[in-house]
Amino acid sequence: MTTTSSKPTVLVTGASTGIGAVYAERFARRGHNLVLVARDFQRLENLANRLWEQYGVNVAVEAADLTNRSELERIEQLIASDKHIGVLVNNAGMAVSKPIIGSTPDDFQQMIDLNVTAATRLGIAAANAFAKRGGGAIINLSSVLGIAHEISGGVYGGSKAFVLNFSRALHQEGVAHGVRVQAVLPGATRTEIWDRSGGSVAALDPAILMDVHDLVDAALAGFDAGETVTIPSLPDVADWQALESARVKLLPNLSRNTPAARYGVKAAEKAA
Ligand SMILES: NC(=O)c1ccc[n+]([C@@H]2O[C@H](COP(=O)([O-])OP(=O)(O)OC[C@H]3O[C@@H](n4cnc5c(N)ncnc54)[C@H](OP(=O)(O)O)[C@@H]3O)[C@@H](O)[C@H]2O)c1
Repeated sequence: MTTTSSKPTVLVTGASTGIGAVYAERFARRGHNLVLVARDFQRLENLANRLWEQYGVNVAVEAADLTNRSELERIEQLIASDKHIGVLVNNAGMAVSKPIIGSTPDDFQQMIDLNVTAATRLGIAAANAFAKRGGGAIINLSSVLGIAHEISGGVYGGSKAFVLNFSRALHQEGVAHGVRVQAVLPGATRTEIWDRSGGSVAALDPAILMDVHDLVDAALAGFDAGETVTIPSLPDVADWQALESARVKLLPNLSRNTPAARYGVKAAEKAA
C-alpha cells in the first residue's frame, strides 16, 4: 500500500473501534495517509484495508499496548522519526467508573497508564516533532467528565481533567512553534467503552447519548474552526465562554502573599 499525499499523515491511537475508528475514516476521506494504533492487530488491519480500498490512502498499522512502556516508546519514536506525521489523534482511552471508596489503587492503574501517561508522552513526542517540522496538530480526547465530577467516575474524570489542562497548556506553548492542540470533550457516546468498563449503554437515557459519527463530525468541525476546546453537545458556546471568563477573572488573585480576609489569618510578622 503506497500512495503519496501532500497532506500530513495522521496517527490515530485507539483506532480499532469507536471514536478512533471514525476519526481514521474521516481523515482518510479527507485524503490523509494514516497510522493506526491499538492492541487488536486484526481489527486495525481490516480497517486499514477498507480505507485503502475506499479512499486510496496509505494506511500503516502499528499494534501496540500503550500501557506497556516499551510498546509506548516505540510509538513515541515513530512519531519522532516519521517526518510525514503531522497530526496526532490522541484518542486511546478506557474508563473505570467504580467509586473510589472500596476500590484499590491498582483498580485504576491501567487507566491512569493509558489516559494520563500514554496520552502525555505521545503528546510531548508529537509536540516536539511537529515543532521541529514547522507545525502540526494534536487532538486530545478529554471528556465532559473532566469538568463535571458530579456525574460519575472520580478517577476517570480526574484523568480527563488532566487531559484538558495539559491540552490547553500545550496549545499555549505550541502556538509559537506552529503546533496547535484541540481538546475534545465528548458527552456519552455510543461506543464499546460502556461494555468494556462493565457498564451498559442500554441503561443510558437516549436523550444524552450521541452517535459516534455525529460526535466526530462535530469535533472535526470544531477543529476546522480552530477551537482549542470543543464540547460537541453544548448547544450555546456562550455558556462555555462565560465559565472561561469567570476562570480568567480569578487569575490575578490566585497567588498572593496574604491569605484572604475571610480566613482571619493575621499576616505573619516579618523577621526583623
Ligand atoms: N464513548 C464515550 O462516551 C466517551 C465519552 C467521553 C470521552 N471518551 C473518550 O474518547 C476516547 C475513545 O473512546 P471510545 O468511546 O471510542 O472507546 P472504545 O470504543 O472503548 O475504544 C477505545 C480504543 O482504545 C484502544 N485501546 C484501549 N486500551 C488500549 C491500550 N492499552 N493500548 C492501545 N490502545 C488501547 C481500543 O483498542 P484495542 O482494544 O484494540 O487496544 C480502542 O480502539 C477515550 O479516550 C475515551 O475516554 C469517550
